[in-house]
Amino acid sequence: MKNVSTAAAANITKPLAEKILADSRPIQILRLDSSPRYPDSVSRHLTDHMVARLLREYPEANVTTRDLAVGLPLPTETFLNGSLYSMQNPTPAMKAAMQVSNEMVAELVAADVVVLGLPIYNWTVPSTFKAYVDQVNRLGVTFEYVDGVSHGLLRARSVYILFTSGGNGMGSDKDFATPYTRFLWQTLGIEHVEFIDAAGLLFNAEENTRKAEEQIDQLVLPIFA
Ligand SMILES: Cc1cc2nc3c(=O)[nH]c(=O)nc-3n(C[C@H](O)[C@H](O)[C@H](O)COP(=O)(O)O)c2cc1C
Repeated sequence: MKNVSTAAAANITKPLAEKILADSRPIQILRLDSSPRYPDSVSRHLTDHMVARLLREYPEANVTTRDLAVGLPLPTETFLNGSLYSMQNPTPAMKAAMQVSNEMVAELVAADVVVLGLPIYNWTVPSTFKAYVDQVNRLGVTFEYVDGVSHGLLRARSVYILFTSGGNGMGSDKDFATPYTRFLWQTLGIEHVEFIDAAGLLFNAEENTRKAEEQIDQLVLPIFA
């Protein structure tokens, strides 16, 4: 079994993170899918491929899957009051409003590596993923402010993003999804943000999917440097 470095663990300061940390345990892979399509989804096919690649390297790893397309809650006033203003003393209604968020935050804080399937929708991230972001960006849990500067608290060191598009090139001037997503994960504390490019599926689906699979196969692992 390959264990996570304690150096990475030492960076976590918050109690929720500390609670789930142990020095010797199987690697935790968190798989996130944001496409509302299932059998025809290229990003889901590629998250499959990426998770299989990781499991070849780390056969004893645990995989947690969170499907973001099932309809996540949107932030309500009660949720915001509980997560921002009454963190120490939430009412029962606030606790109920934060339940799904707490579950997803626990999965994310526990993750050593995150695998995200991300189609571009209307030049940016799909609302399925944005809904997730609004639930897991939690002050005092996944990030904190130090001297007025936002500081990420996730222990994961790598996130792999399986990017799909119809026509817009990854990193082109019409792609607002990849710069946003890179910034987001780095703000939460994940330094290594790697994109797998499966853009242009409208014109060259087979070839571009195959190239993305090759890119996954050739990734340099391990991922916990
Ligand atoms: C609502 C919607 C909006 C989309 N917007 C864009 C876009 O802005 N740029 C683009 O290149 N492709 C766009 N596409 C195409 C998807 O990114 C593409 O079909 C991708 O493969 C979807 O991922 P999936 O196969 O995992 O479902 C859009 C598709 C849908 C359904």
